[in-house]
Amino acid sequence: MNILAIETSCDETGVAILQCDGEIGSTSFKILGNSLFSQIEIHKEYGGVFPMMAKRAHAENLVPLLRAALGEAEMIQLNDERVSDELSRELEELLSREKDLAGALIELLNEIDVPKIDAITVTHGPGLEPTLWVGVNFAKALAKAWNLPLIPADHMEGHIFSALFDEQKIASIQFPLVALLASGGHTQLVVMSDWFSYEIIGETLDDAVGEAYDKVARMIGLPYPGGKEIDELSKAGREKGESLFSFPRPMLHSNDCNFSFSGLKTAVLYQVKDRDLSESEKEDVAQEFQDAVVEVLIKKTERAVDEFSPQTLLIGGGVAANKELTGALQKFLDNRGDEISLLTPAKGLSGDNAVMIGLAGYFRYLKANGAYVDPDSIVANGNLRLDK
Ligand code: KG4
Ligand code: ZN
Repeated sequence: MNILAIETSCDETGVAILQCDGEIGSTSFKILGNSLFSQIEIHKEYGGVFPMMAKRAHAENLVPLLRAALGEAEMIQLNDERVSDELSRELEELLSREKDLAGALIELLNEIDVPKIDAITVTHGPGLEPTLWVGVNFAKALAKAWNLPLIPADHMEGHIFSALFDEQKIASIQFPLVALLASGGHTQLVVMSDWFSYEIIGETLDDAVGEAYDKVARMIGLPYPGGKEIDELSKAGREKGESLFSFPRPMLHSNDCNFSFSGLKTAVLYQVKDRDLSESEKEDVAQEFQDAVVEVLIKKTERAVDEFSPQTLLIGGGVAANKELTGALQKFLDNRGDEISLLTPAKGLSGDNAVMIGLAGYFRYLKANGAYVDPDSIVANGNLRLDK
């Protein structure tokens, strides 16, 4: 079957079409179309995501991205049969807060045949509620126009699936699984005892790790989002030797799997404020900051592994693009010597995207087994939690 996935939880607009077959655990899939628009350039100026601007950008980009994904999947058949007035009215009502989006969608529907899509899945949380709603309402409109089931998907479950984007990996998954989810909005340790069975065993008490990266990057004059830049700079620092700076490792020894990054961020601020840092000093800040983050993440993961004896360790989220972190996780497992396999996101899937949502959505589709939720009951939930 073909599933259309939509992601608008933060500042990436994603539309993907996946061909998925098989059952849970013996799933096969192929990306037929994948289009992604990053709003980084829009938010760069402000050093962070402005929800209302993000919302507008999602609304502007969804139809062009859908058109591109359908085109890539070779699913565009031109047909000038216009949508009925009644359907137009229903779509306009569903998208009453995004009038231009409604217009653009109706224009597209007037041009093309119903494509060979069997279900639609959309991120309904967690994330920024105003931006989530754009995706959810758009998905509802499409599901109505094409008379398809609509499957709500959890963004964090998507990040987990980004590391399972391989048929062999899915088939070989052994539970329990511990997932370290590290992104701009979340830092969580999650235990999966089976498919769809989640327990959040630790999370940040304040800033997410990616958020701390972005804020520290800003303090030393690096562009938003900054995680990648700090990562790069830290390498240059390491090549030179020891960092001149020393930052704390918050909650390193706390007797739990929780995190805190706001104190670390403040410690950096305290040491860099009112200073005109040289390039070399910036490298030292980046190096020490990254060392502190990696040390804390590894320590807490170790705690989770000790307590839950997983067969599989998985990392997901934008920060999983950090090779030093994934390298340290692998080294940690190698040193333990027990046979825990490490799964990391497939190339290009660590940051937000619709492909991971498509795979997570397909699993939810299988789980629903025909008992789909009423699309009208689907709501955006910025605080959605995997264990609820
Ligand atoms: O998962 P994601 O794309 O969006 C959210 O769901 O939040 O994560 C984005 C975060 C940003 O904070 C970004 O700075 C961070 O991931 N990031 C990195 C790296 N690449 C992206 N952090 C550290 N090292 C990286 N290489
Ligand atoms: Zn994310």
